[in-house]
Amino acid sequence: MPNVVDDIVAEVAALCRENRDGAVADYIPELASVPADEFALCIATTDGYVYESGSARTEFTIQSISKPFTYGLALADNGPAAVAAKVDVEPSGEPFNEISLDPVTERPRNPMINAGAITSAALIHGADVAERFERIRRCYSRYAGRELTMNDAVYLSEAKTGHRNRAIGHMLRSFGIVTGNPDDAVDLYFRQCSIDVTCRDLALMAATMANNGINPVTHERALATEQIERVLSVMTTCGMYDAAGDWVARVGLPAKSGVGGGVLAVLPGQIGIAVYSPRLDAHGNSVRGVQACSELSKRLELHFMHVTRAARSAIRSQYTIAEAPSRQRRTDTERTTLSQFGNRARIYELHGDLLFAGAETAVREITDHGDDLDAVVIDIRRIDDVSAVANRMIADMQAALNDRGCRTALVDPDGMLGRTTSSVLIDDPDGRVFVDIDAAAQWCEDVVLDRYCFVDRQPKRVDLARHPLLATLTSEQFERFALEIERRTFTRGEVVVRRGEQASGIHFLLEGQISSTLTDAQGRTRRVATLSPGMSFGEMALLVAEPYLYDVRADSAVQLAVLPAERFADLTASAPGLKLALLERLAAGAYAQMDSAIRSIALRSGGF
Ligand code: DON
Repeated sequence: MPNVVDDIVAEVAALCRENRDGAVADYIPELASVPADEFALCIATTDGYVYESGSARTEFTIQSISKPFTYGLALADNGPAAVAAKVDVEPSGEPFNEISLDPVTERPRNPMINAGAITSAALIHGADVAERFERIRRCYSRYAGRELTMNDAVYLSEAKTGHRNRAIGHMLRSFGIVTGNPDDAVDLYFRQCSIDVTCRDLALMAATMANNGINPVTHERALATEQIERVLSVMTTCGMYDAAGDWVARVGLPAKSGVGGGVLAVLPGQIGIAVYSPRLDAHGNSVRGVQACSELSKRLELHFMHVTRAARSAIRSQYTIAEAPSRQRRTDTERTTLSQFGNRARIYELHGDLLFAGAETAVREITDHGDDLDAVVIDIRRIDDVSAVANRMIADMQAALNDRGCRTALVDPDGMLGRTTSSVLIDDPDGRVFVDIDAAAQWCEDVVLDRYCFVDRQPKRVDLARHPLLATLTSEQFERFALEIERRTFTRGEVVVRRGEQASGIHFLLEGQISSTLTDAQGRTRRVATLSPGMSFGEMALLVAEPYLYDVRADSAVQLAVLPAERFADLTASAPGLKLALLERLAAGAYAQMDSAIRSIALRSGGF
């Protein structure tokens, strides 16, 4: 089913097809015979999808579009300094075949004009022209994702008539830019210009450049990222020769044209574009190629100076742990402390690509709050990519906050920032890295409680008589209650109850820690709550006679006092006062838990 891109490609193709301006290159006799009205337009994405229009599979010679690819190979073979010593990167404002060197540097001004391109060819490693050409051919083939071949007729035709390029070769030799046989360098250049490509090939070659040098279909690397950056830079300033300024203003994409009628343009990180139409303008650029790229740039908003919106802070949302507590149940005193001091621990959820500008604003916002905070959690689960500088800025901010007495932690389950990930609550001077937000929120609460709560912290164990949920019972009611309970012990990791089992009783935790969890369809386990001594579970399922909604496991050695379901039921007749007192107390506890769970779900993205 055609989508919007197909429609736009078809519209642009229909518009450009009407344009019959320009003339086919005829200075290479073999080029004069190509059908002048051929037309193709392709867009390849960085995941390898190609939108095609017109004769996208018709072969034509790559000509000058070969120049950036050979320049890239020369960079890979010799390193940027050795290449820069031979060819500059300054726009020349001259036609492609000008016989000139920069009068001051005595080097070709850039690798996109013939003088620079022949220099690049001379820099390709290999024992002889044949071996060097084979390396070039294989290199271009990696960009295209298929084996490309040379068009013998076009090569022979240019080799017979290319006197101007030979003059350039000998000029380069006389200035010591080319040190070997200049005829070999020119011959290699003629061969590379005669490699046959289709419009689809060129679009994929452009998409490989857009994809940091990796072919999006074969996933083979054609060139290293740093070299791709340099090649694209030179294409931006010099790729369209003496029309480069107008091209950048109108189209705003690194590009390269060839007298074979091809134009290739790249939007780094996004797409590659190719057009094939043999009629050329006075600069040697395809008339329809320039027009089609300009129309596509406008309609698809591709101009690299086009800013859809100014960089925003990477902060998606922020809240305190008073507003969004963890699923660790807390004692009444701890809850009171957390509602009073919980605004001293803040969670920042970041999103998008963490690049310089977004990180800069986020770091400033977080640091501005730093003096009023005891703990900061930075949740980067929704960050898609992090630049090296942004990563450094986050690490620097953590160090600065730590120096000011504010503890910091990350939620980074995929290790995007490259720190060691662990949900274990151990001390780490560089800040902790948690795999889930709830563990980080619990850590924040513990930091706050360690600083502001000195009494009634969660005890290691409580006697049944001191269990807070039984505190409002009279001594007669307690004695009666004590007769009904059964004591149960569990070892670490043991299942206490399972989701789907019928409610079996009210469980009062006397010693150790237990967690209720849910396991989703993908097998991921999520914590619903963690309980410590003095807390209870199971009352709700029991009251409504429904199965348990979650699994409960012992996180450590655990001791429970259980009021079994049948005995609880019997209390209605035998001790109604006791049952009512128990229910009122349990309902108050359940309400507080629901309150904190709902607040967290409302504020945290994704709830958990
Ligand atoms: O140097 C030449 O004459 C050709 N083989 C290539 C020139 C070229 O494609 C110029 N680009 N528009």
